[in-house]
Amino acid sequence: MEERKVETESRADRADCAGQEEVRKEALSDGMIYDRYRKKESLNGEWHYAVDQYDTCIGAKWYEENRYDEGGNLLPVDYSFDEWDTMTLPCSFNTFDRMFLLYEGSMIFTRTFFFQKQKEDERVFLKIGAVNYLCRVFLNKQYVGMHKGGSTPFYFDITEYLAHSNRILIQADSTRRGEQVPTTVTDWFNYGGVYRDIEIIRVPAVHVKQFQTALEPDGTFRNIRVEIRLSEAVSATAVLTIDELSIKKEIAVENGVGELVLEASPVLWSPENPKLYDVSLSCAGDCVRDRVGFREFRVKGMDIMLNGGPIFLKGVCFHEDSAADGKALTDAERVEIIRTAKELGCNFMRLAHYPHSERMAQLADEMGLLLWEEIPVYWDIHFSSKETYRDAENQLCELITRDFNRASVIIWSVGNENQDTDERLKFMSSLAETAHRLDHTRAVSAACLVNFAKNLIEDRLEEYLDVIGLNEYCGWYAADFATLPALFENSHPKKPVIVTEFGADALAGHHGTITDKGTEDCQAFVYEKQTEQIRKIDYIKGMTPWILRDFRCPRRTAFTQKYYNTKGLISADGKRKMAFDILRDFYHSMEP
Ligand code: GCU
Repeated sequence: MEERKVETESRADRADCAGQEEVRKEALSDGMIYDRYRKKESLNGEWHYAVDQYDTCIGAKWYEENRYDEGGNLLPVDYSFDEWDTMTLPCSFNTFDRMFLLYEGSMIFTRTFFFQKQKEDERVFLKIGAVNYLCRVFLNKQYVGMHKGGSTPFYFDITEYLAHSNRILIQADSTRRGEQVPTTVTDWFNYGGVYRDIEIIRVPAVHVKQFQTALEPDGTFRNIRVEIRLSEAVSATAVLTIDELSIKKEIAVENGVGELVLEASPVLWSPENPKLYDVSLSCAGDCVRDRVGFREFRVKGMDIMLNGGPIFLKGVCFHEDSAADGKALTDAERVEIIRTAKELGCNFMRLAHYPHSERMAQLADEMGLLLWEEIPVYWDIHFSSKETYRDAENQLCELITRDFNRASVIIWSVGNENQDTDERLKFMSSLAETAHRLDHTRAVSAACLVNFAKNLIEDRLEEYLDVIGLNEYCGWYAADFATLPALFENSHPKKPVIVTEFGADALAGHHGTITDKGTEDCQAFVYEKQTEQIRKIDYIKGMTPWILRDFRCPRRTAFTQKYYNTKGLISADGKRKMAFDILRDFYHSMEP
């Protein structure tokens, strides 16, 4: 009997299913295409799946479906793709079945689908909205490529892999690894799976890869910049159309790139008046569209300016976390979250600590809410690792490329609560420079720690930021409230500050004295004391208390938490706490 091939690779070896090919086939930000409002063929729905705790699919190359030996004899296999159970994708597999709640590792998803070429020269892309964290894709027994990063979209050109009848196989590996971004320890739940849409997109051979448009932050409110990048370095003439502004403008494209600044008088987008314009661009046989709000966001001295006027960012933090759906929130949930924030009196929301679904910024554009978007450079990242930096920077570029046209997004954040070390400074200042290079129409920030030794707002990263984010938990982790006025009075920041976190845990319905930790009364008292101080400080131009809704967190096991971080103003099942009213009254007491 032939000696069974015993798999001996280590888990790490197994994970590298294609060696050097693995690196060559990594989906990165420059492989993205412009896809909003393009016709999409959905692959969402019933997928067969298997839990693959030992990465056997990769180690034993299930995806090659080697069912016969050289002599043509049938071989035993350890998989039955079309007899596996099914899961409806997209979803976070942890909330699909209680059996998987605490599972962390690889799951394999597979389905078949038919494909019919429609145009001779078409290119066909597979777009996956997000997989947490590592994803490999195989199509018709061939390795298509991989993506790292748990919250950003990625694309593969699958034109050459397609047949009439196709089998696709996706590995989704949620294993936390030290070199990843985020690293192994966070204060949120590590939901795994293919949790955003899976789509096929057909484009012409020469197509629009990037289409970016925004109002130039030059104080005129009349200059709209348009930038185009094609898939090929060809010369062509693009035509930009904004009917409602009577605009139909030609843009010269040379070597695949073109840009134009054109004069117009748009109604300016704002949270109070979220005016959007239908914009279309045709070029080289391709035609793309978007719905764009034109607004000017700037930081001017110590002021944060929207459309030429100073604004106080009345915000709240939010995790992409739903008790029922993990990170795979429904649109109805997202609309409800934005509506609730606006009921609180918010004009702003911090989407912590990673890129949320692209639907959040699209809905914020429609409903009128400003956004802080962030990459998960969270706590103790491997700041001296080049590979970790490449991963973080790619996630930042994917986020900016995805949401560039969203008027609601005003701040890119390069991270959260990282100790001020030399390696961290180099790593995060480089990220800030990348964000500034890619986008001069927004601010760059990060949620920084207090310099506790001096009780000061002081972090060397501030030099590279436009706005300073400050996480301070006076009255909670820093129990003595007296440190709060001292912190603010002793500090002399040279840039506007947004208090990006303060808060307290409270189990909904649990009451006691204002010093009883974990009660609604204590949380409400923290909000009263914090808002009382913040309102006095001129250099504070915004705040996003932690956090709108309780969220799952494996680190939180107290009887008032039960594996939830309960600093929400609302419990995971929707109960409002006393502090909700405190914040609402505070925001409504401020002039608009
Ligand atoms: C930190 C961190 C959050 C965390 C919060 C808390 O500031 O940024 O991610 O959940 O504190 O301790 O509740």
